[in-house]
Amino acid sequence: MGLRGNAVLLAIVLRLSMIPRPEAQLQYGYYQNTCPQTETIVMEEVKKGLAKDLGLAADFVRMHFHDCFVRGCDGSILIDSTPGNTAEKDSPINNPSLQGYDIIDNAKTRLEAACKAVVSCSDIVAFAARDSIALSGGLRYPVPVGRRDGRVSLASETFTNLPPPTFNLSQLTQSFSSKGLTQQEMVILSGAHTIGVSHCTTISNRLYNFSPTESTDPNLDPTYASQLKQSCPQGSTDTSLVVDMDPPSPTVVDSSYYKNLLVNRGLFQSDQALMSSQETAAQVNLYASNGFIFNWRFALAMIKMGKIGVLTGTDGEIRLNCRVIN
Ligand code: HEM
Ligand SMILES: *[C@@H]1O[C@H](CO)[C@@H](O)[C@H](O)[C@H]1NC(C)=O
Repeated sequence: MGLRGNAVLLAIVLRLSMIPRPEAQLQYGYYQNTCPQTETIVMEEVKKGLAKDLGLAADFVRMHFHDCFVRGCDGSILIDSTPGNTAEKDSPINNPSLQGYDIIDNAKTRLEAACKAVVSCSDIVAFAARDSIALSGGLRYPVPVGRRDGRVSLASETFTNLPPPTFNLSQLTQSFSSKGLTQQEMVILSGAHTIGVSHCTTISNRLYNFSPTESTDPNLDPTYASQLKQSCPQGSTDTSLVVDMDPPSPTVVDSSYYKNLLVNRGLFQSDQALMSSQETAAQVNLYASNGFIFNWRFALAMIKMGKIGVLTGTDGEIRLNCRVIN
């Protein structure tokens, strides 16, 4: 083959390598040419939301987690129920506790006006989670994008894919491993409980109805238990009662979540379970004493979580309204 032949072959190879493949990866700067305002618009809307209600930061972080663990990070958490279908957001795991959908809508409306049908709803959720972490004192990590939106959202799938707060260490490890995440990543991602709240109804069994022989979980610090009981009276069905997940710094992304675990002040059994093996307890110790390592590893693990089961290339769609499939 002569020089010319080589050039033609090279051109073909280059052209071939540019065809999006089904296993296409997420990319950094994916919207740089098609919608450069994307990250600014999302950030502005998240900021506006947090200015009204700082608690929404936790919602966006949890929203990304709940999106990614159910059918991958495909924006399925945002789809509204229809007469024939109860969607993920209306599972009791998400409703009424998970909020902030209106802020995602605001960002989407502005993005559609700026660049029609370019930015996916699933990417907006990933950005909103990152911005919430950054605005709460965590690291502002780069978010690889190019996710496309799914067309299916089933409440039933939340029960089988999202770990409940009663899980022990092996169950948690198995749950995260089924999503391609290691036990170490499970320990670090649990650190998301450094911000936000839990409803009293979620912990009432741990406080009052733990087992046939113990009313309160003996693994819960007694002083903390009595504080929780004051905030969450026995038998109360008031679904608006909540407690902070990380009382020492409820709105700051820091490592005090891990310090709590060292003194049996994990709010859920699943939190305290991180102390139940030598290996994971050593990680808890490390993060409790080194907030720098926590913040870095947390950011890296969030990036990895954001890649679970993503749709790319020509899979899925760019939803025009995050609440309804096109
Ligand atoms: C390790 C297993 C996990 C379990 C069992 C779990 C369970 C829960 C439960 C039961 C709540 C409280 C819901 C309520 O009653 O209001 C909650 C809240 C929360 N979770 Fe998790 N979670 C886990 C992991 C994660 C991960 C990986 C993230 C994010 C990366 C996350 C982020 C949050 C946040 C930010 C809140 C506070 C939400 C708010 O204030 O509205 N969780 N979690
Ligand atoms: C965790 O719970 C499962 C299911 O209840 C049980 O089979 C397992 O033995 C438990 N593991 C530990 C370490 O307690």
